[in-house]
Amino acid sequence: MAADKSFYVTTPIFYVNDVPHIGHAYTEVAADVLARWHRQAGDDTWLLTGTDEHGQKILRTATANGATPQEWADRLVESAWKPLLDTITIANDDFIRTTEPRHEVNVQKFLTTLYDAGFIYTGEYEGAYCVGCEEYKQPSDLVVGTGEYEGQQVCAIHSKPVESLHEKNYFFRMSDFEQRLLDLYEARPDFVQPESARNEVIQFVKQGLADLSISRSTFDWGIKLPWDETHVVYVWFDALLNYITATGYGQDEANFARRWPATHIVGKDILRFHAVIWPAMLMAAGIDVPKQVYGHGWLLVGGEKMSKSKLTGIAPSDITDTFGSDAFRYYFMSAITFGQDGSFSWEDLSARYHAELANGFGNLASRALAMVGKYFDGAVPAPGDYAPADKAIIDVVAAAAVEADAAIETLAIHDAISSIWTIVDALNGYITEQEPWALAKDPANAPRLATVLYTVTEGLRALAVLLSPVMPLSTQKLWNALGVEASLGALAAQPVRNAGTWGQLVPGTALGTLEPLFPRIETAE
Ligand code: ME8
Ligand code: MG
Repeated sequence: MAADKSFYVTTPIFYVNDVPHIGHAYTEVAADVLARWHRQAGDDTWLLTGTDEHGQKILRTATANGATPQEWADRLVESAWKPLLDTITIANDDFIRTTEPRHEVNVQKFLTTLYDAGFIYTGEYEGAYCVGCEEYKQPSDLVVGTGEYEGQQVCAIHSKPVESLHEKNYFFRMSDFEQRLLDLYEARPDFVQPESARNEVIQFVKQGLADLSISRSTFDWGIKLPWDETHVVYVWFDALLNYITATGYGQDEANFARRWPATHIVGKDILRFHAVIWPAMLMAAGIDVPKQVYGHGWLLVGGEKMSKSKLTGIAPSDITDTFGSDAFRYYFMSAITFGQDGSFSWEDLSARYHAELANGFGNLASRALAMVGKYFDGAVPAPGDYAPADKAIIDVVAAAAVEADAAIETLAIHDAISSIWTIVDALNGYITEQEPWALAKDPANAPRLATVLYTVTEGLRALAVLLSPVMPLSTQKLWNALGVEASLGALAAQPVRNAGTWGQLVPGTALGTLEPLFPRIETAE
């Protein structure tokens, strides 16, 4: 695999009308795990995230809070959205805000290109609009409201009334791209994933595409159309372009060529925007379509999509303050099959934290290092001849590394973690069977004891490397305790595709002290 393979991965840019909840954090973590893995594999990696700041929803929230939309966006970005990245240990390479000049100027360039090429015309829009979704709705998207909105037509997602629009707008000839989109989904089955998302998108496009209204003239919080300053760009048209403006489109073509096309990680709620509208926009401008659009599932609360508008949102810090950010990342990436919905519960989080992290991984590391401390004065012993039980561990480690990398290639993050976890389980079983404490009772067994403890410690070396994209903080503690910084280099620099190659730990290496990785949490159960 070429060392300089480009991997450009994005999250959605989130609306700044409110603070983040664990649904937003979920997408961030997934994209970050993929980015860290690829970075550690030596790929030319770029992780982009950011905020979506224009449109009626932000304007209304700001106004209701007595702020200008720009003041409101600035406040939310600084107090909530950027701090989220620290809370869950995201190593993003860039953060784009749609109110930045680098975005606005190049959105206008893009629009001019489409306008000059004849893909934009004036027309009249008459129909329903949901400000919560910032989306034009079809009658089939609406349901009859209950309670406060009894009898009214409401958005099926927000359960709030839609607004009827009748405006002179500019339209994008999206219908021109129907067949080209269907051909794309056919020719590149990986373009939209998972399979359920791909099928949904194909069915949707087969029903026929209408042209898209891309401007609004009844408010002015947005990017002005270059040829008609009485209109601002439809917020989704503006927002989708962040993926190219952030990497140099219109401004730094060399960098743009280096990064693009991207892998887009989004929730399935915004799949159609990314898998239908966005590639049609790019085709019209003569730009390559994305590498992939992956629509992950929803975190559910009480069987419904967790959301702030329905007051079911949980703040990420509610979890990380107690369990830490590594446990947050591990839990959501391992307990939910990526691509499917998953229900969050405190009981499940606590149970897995104690069983898998505290007892499974943390305890393995602390026992192993304590035994090297006690029986070999804290210096990694040199292995002798490997017995079948040791060779079995060597094979498990090699297979886990290969399987995990293959799983990451298909974005099956949960499968990658379960492959890696075969090492944790195998090492725990190995220690139970080999009984190093029994071997230590007879000096004649010293060579065997050395082989056993080398095997366990070298297994931990591989685990630290393979788990570092998922749990960067605890694996760093383990790396420090293994004392390998001087001989092997920094943890983040360990080539992940080489993690399964046995024998990297140098005998004689002096171990440091291991800080507790996953302390027991008393309030649990
Ligand atoms: O849609 N489960 O922003 P947004 C899982 N600005 N993921 C969830 C979730 C849940 N319950 N709730 C939210 C927008 N998410 C636009 C995007 S992109 C060019 C513009 C995550 O703030 C998930 O990634 O409403 C979802 O797609 C996204 O937050 C929606 O964030
Ligand atoms: Mg939303």
